[in-house]
Amino acid sequence: MPPAPDPTLFDKVVNLCKRRGFVFPSAEIYGGFRSTYDYGPVGVLLLRNVKEEWWRSMVQLRHDVVGLDAAILSPPAIWEASGHLQNFTDPLVDCRKCRERFRLDKLDDPNECPNCHAKGSFTEARHFNLMFKTYAGPVEGTGAEVYLRPETAQGMFVNFKNVLETSRKRPPFGIAQIGKSFRNEITPGNFVFRTREFEQMEMEYFVPPDEAEKWYEYWCDERLRWYVDLGIREDQLRLRAHDEEELSHYSSATSDVEFLFPWGWDELEGIANRTDYDLRQHAQASGESLDYFDPALGERYVPYVIEPAAGATRTAMAFLMAAYDEEEVAREGQGQGESRTVLRFHHRIAPYKVAVLPLSRKPELQEPANEVLGLLQPHYMCDYDETQAIGRRYRRQDELGTPYCVTIDFDTLDDRAVTVRDRDSMAQDRVQIDALLDHLEPKLS
Ligand code: GAP
Repeated sequence: MPPAPDPTLFDKVVNLCKRRGFVFPSAEIYGGFRSTYDYGPVGVLLLRNVKEEWWRSMVQLRHDVVGLDAAILSPPAIWEASGHLQNFTDPLVDCRKCRERFRLDKLDDPNECPNCHAKGSFTEARHFNLMFKTYAGPVEGTGAEVYLRPETAQGMFVNFKNVLETSRKRPPFGIAQIGKSFRNEITPGNFVFRTREFEQMEMEYFVPPDEAEKWYEYWCDERLRWYVDLGIREDQLRLRAHDEEELSHYSSATSDVEFLFPWGWDELEGIANRTDYDLRQHAQASGESLDYFDPALGERYVPYVIEPAAGATRTAMAFLMAAYDEEEVAREGQGQGESRTVLRFHHRIAPYKVAVLPLSRKPELQEPANEVLGLLQPHYMCDYDETQAIGRRYRRQDELGTPYCVTIDFDTLDDRAVTVRDRDSMAQDRVQIDALLDHLEPKLS
């Protein structure tokens, strides 16, 4: 059993995100904008690292997956065929007493309003479509309607033939995509966990139908391992299979990778067996054949699709929650106790890998500090900070999760050596500037 999550963790992480430039409420100077968030100077690095690590494992390190970047705006025909116009709905109920609105499928008791505790006060459920609709061109109306995609997946299905013809891939092979998706969520919330605009990392893996089960198991294992490899504890993760009623309209089997958030287990990613549903639907609606002729078997078939579908923004939030730690430590250089907050990110996820900190702003330290920065920047994302006492600057880097701080002091002028300080152990090593890259490379590789 994992330790129960700290009930104050959520607020602590949200506060740190604002204070240190990870995530800001969107349009804050206008009072904020409905559960929408902007990623600040540090958050944008975190998010890029999450996406980069996903791309590295799903595309770069494989020979059977290629990438795609499809359009966000899409014609109704795609969503008609995919079933989203009809099925991508949430059941919405209003409480007649307090007028609050809820998703019926998320209520603990469908007869009791969780806000005012009235019984039997809900209206009949209405099916509310989650897709954002807009109009292309100057005239609003039928014929000009377009949708913002609610999942990146359909871009991969409608390009199946193009990719097959141009990439020389044959089933089993995958198409991967990272990008924004939009859903008009009835109840966005829990910070960036559920928002109306978010980023997805999805891969459609096309397989011979009789191999679908095998690849479904394979991708469930692979995807769970990815989070563990990047530093999330195994006891904070689990795989949960959907029961029959929970399955999406296109799925014959789905398992969620779940993370133990402060409010309990919740979804990070879904791995689904989408069967041949999407390719058949698009083939029928477009008139294009979306099947594959296997020359070895002399057979034509419509591939089945195994889809690992993760949220980049939601995953970034899980990495923040998993990395957050507080501990009592001796004040560096003075021995007195103090508490420190530290984000123990895996090095590959950490926004900055190294912080360059000249001990003082005196001009004579700027030259070696710039030399060190120039040496490191081509290899690592670096922060540079010359304000405040060094102890406070270390604390700031701890809260950003920076694995190493490099301090340039007055001795550097004589011995051309710098102090390298480790985020987790706080141990300090004296290292020659000329040997600095060799010193950091094995630690950060
Ligand atoms: N193509 C399949 C699909 O989109 P999904 O379970 O609806 O499946 C996949 O979404 C992932 O996208 C989720 O596991 C979650 O990480 C992320 N996601 C979905 N809706 C989200 C939202 N409103 N805000 C943030 N992330 C979301």
